[in-house]
Amino acid sequence: MSEELSPREHVAFYTGQQLPLELHKVRVVQKLYLKPIEDRYRAIQEAGYNSFLLSTKDTFLDMLTDSGCNAMSDRQTAAMMLADDAYAGSQSYLRLESRVQEMFGKSLVLPVHQGRAAENIISQAFISEGDHIPMNYHFTTTKAHIELNGGELHEIYTDEAMKIKSDHPFKGNIDLKKLKEVIKTYGTEKIPFIRLEASTNLIGGQPFSMENMKEVRKIADEHGLIIVLDASLIGENAYFIKQREAAYHNASIQSILLEMSELSDLIYFSARKLSSSRGGIICTSNESLYDQMRDMVPLFEGFLTYGGISVREIEAMAVGLEETLDDQMICQSPSFIDYFVRKAESLGIPVVTPGGGLGAHVDAKGFLPHIPQEEYPAGALVSAFFLVSGVRGMERGTISSVRLPSGKDLLADMELMRLAFPRRVFTLSQVEYTIDRLKWLLDNRDLVGGLQWDHEPKVLRFFLGKLKPIGDWPVKLMEKFREDMGTSL
Ligand code: F0G
Repeated sequence: MSEELSPREHVAFYTGQQLPLELHKVRVVQKLYLKPIEDRYRAIQEAGYNSFLLSTKDTFLDMLTDSGCNAMSDRQTAAMMLADDAYAGSQSYLRLESRVQEMFGKSLVLPVHQGRAAENIISQAFISEGDHIPMNYHFTTTKAHIELNGGELHEIYTDEAMKIKSDHPFKGNIDLKKLKEVIKTYGTEKIPFIRLEASTNLIGGQPFSMENMKEVRKIADEHGLIIVLDASLIGENAYFIKQREAAYHNASIQSILLEMSELSDLIYFSARKLSSSRGGIICTSNESLYDQMRDMVPLFEGFLTYGGISVREIEAMAVGLEETLDDQMICQSPSFIDYFVRKAESLGIPVVTPGGGLGAHVDAKGFLPHIPQEEYPAGALVSAFFLVSGVRGMERGTISSVRLPSGKDLLADMELMRLAFPRRVFTLSQVEYTIDRLKWLLDNRDLVGGLQWDHEPKVLRFFLGKLKPIGDWPVKLMEKFREDMGTSL
């Protein structure tokens, strides 16, 4: 056995029971509160049955997102003390820039304050009215920016992507035949780029394979098209390539990442997911692409050597990026998710399989089959689950979709409750608690009803929208909970 255990060995080495092993110790902690169900009921009512509007003081385990809330390492917090405060030419920024250049092999780097700021700049620079953008799957903010600039999305995922239960290792792959069809239908002049999203967020954190990416590159080259890679969850995607793609079992995360990078013309990411609590990056080696974006950074973000990020965060980001390349670190979230998914499945809880990156995804259509999609089963599941557990998940279904000009909802392909696993934040017993409460809810699912809008914003409605229950199901659920538990906790 080598001195450093590989992620596969961590699991096997432990007890033979496939328990994920924490490869860090906890040195800074934050107190949590588990409030009684009556308080949680009041909180979810005040939040308009929207988990984005809950306060952390009412939340026990915050599994809303991994964005900006992964645990920081001692090296990251130490680096923050070295920050060089300067508007222009900060040494902190130069350190970050060279880290990005080394890690992605791209020479031209632009800083932005977070991922959607990169999407704003890329969309403004390259998308015109009537353009078509093929991609494996959209992310909410990506779609909003593309459409704002007159573009139309084409999600060309494989049939496997929409199957809840699957053992396909790469559900984030692009369907190559569909890609060729989109190119043929709309013509290359109407396609500013092909977008690939690493560890495809909205379909369950599912990765694409290197083999698929190489094929996409081939097609792009045949038609003179460029590839834009959303690398917000690139570490996990590279980890899955190493785990699941035979040719890469012995490759380092860094070499996999460089290979993915070489296959892309333009890369952007949200550092809130990748390495720190703020920041984002756009990078490329193509001067013409760079020139079309550069001047927008001082306009929308800040000067070219900070891009709206504080110098302290820039330091944390630089160290965090380096740590992303460490198998022992990057395996943490996927191995906890894998544990959760396998255990939940064994208890009959419908979950997206195989486990992916960023979070475990519970299938709300399977969990609450009696709630029609128009009554938002994923939103209802998130609210009901918060009520019975204090765990805050995120709705990733029709509420996160949009209303069509016809006045009807664009029903989401999948109705999911995402339970995010920010890196190195939760313990295994907290994960066990989450599974246990989810099983109780499954056994009492008939009590859960749907939701309807109270206040529906026009853009990105899931962030600030307010809903209300159809009927008084939350009260009935609360009563049954107290009866079964013999307590309000
Ligand atoms: N791209 C992907 C794949 C993302 O997951 C996100 C954010 C963004 C872009 C936008 O980045 O938040 O820094 O502006 N995902 C978060 C989430 C919000 O909770 O999944 P941002």
